[in-house]
Amino acid sequence: MLRVAIDGPGGTGKSTIAKAIAAKFGLEYIDTGAMYRSLALKSVRLGVSPDDEAAVEAMLENTTIDFVDNHVYLDGEDVGDLIRTNEISMAASNISKLPCVRAKVDEVSKHLAATRDVVMEGRDIGTIVIPDAEVKVFMTAAPEIRAQRRFDQLREAGKPADYDEIFADIQKRDYQDSHRALNPLRQAEDAVYLDTSNMTIEENIEAIADLIRERM
Ligand code: DC
Repeated sequence: MLRVAIDGPGGTGKSTIAKAIAAKFGLEYIDTGAMYRSLALKSVRLGVSPDDEAAVEAMLENTTIDFVDNHVYLDGEDVGDLIRTNEISMAASNISKLPCVRAKVDEVSKHLAATRDVVMEGRDIGTIVIPDAEVKVFMTAAPEIRAQRRFDQLREAGKPADYDEIFADIQKRDYQDSHRALNPLRQAEDAVYLDTSNMTIEENIEAIADLIRERM
């Protein structure tokens, strides 16, 4: 089996790198953040507050999430484009602190990782979801660099972008994701630490590809 776990804070480029690794080694790519984002989208649509755990739990009872061919399905709807907004980024960080939400996403993620070779990215993959993954990477980059990358991306896409706002959001989400009580973002003891601040995308992919080749 080959299971690659990539963890790290938001805006580090985990998705770009994980997709490239999946294509290179014929692995299935699983984005666990997309599942938290989908559940956040549903809660926003229904007006369910992340502070009302009973209401969130009731919502989850009637909710299915699937990950098929790089697409996340919320109750059968492909929500890929709707979950990539600032509002949903923060809502996902908020709702992901709830035990019932983590249990739901863990169940889907663990099932996926048990049945196929995967590259899975998130915050707690190497620590909780696949603690025995063959390759574990903790990817990070300085918050200023992550904010600049995001700013450049938005500008290139012709979308409005405010650097200071992006930087503040990144810092807030870093803090929340690494300080929540349950399964916070942290590096697994046996994960390889990769600071990508001064790496190109190609160098980043190669660094992880080297780790995978060592294990094959
Ligand atoms: O990776 P992302 O930015 O799409 O994740 C969105 C939010 O979901 C993130 O701020 C925290 C939460 N998350 C989590 O708690 N655990 C994971 N394995 C993945 C994401």
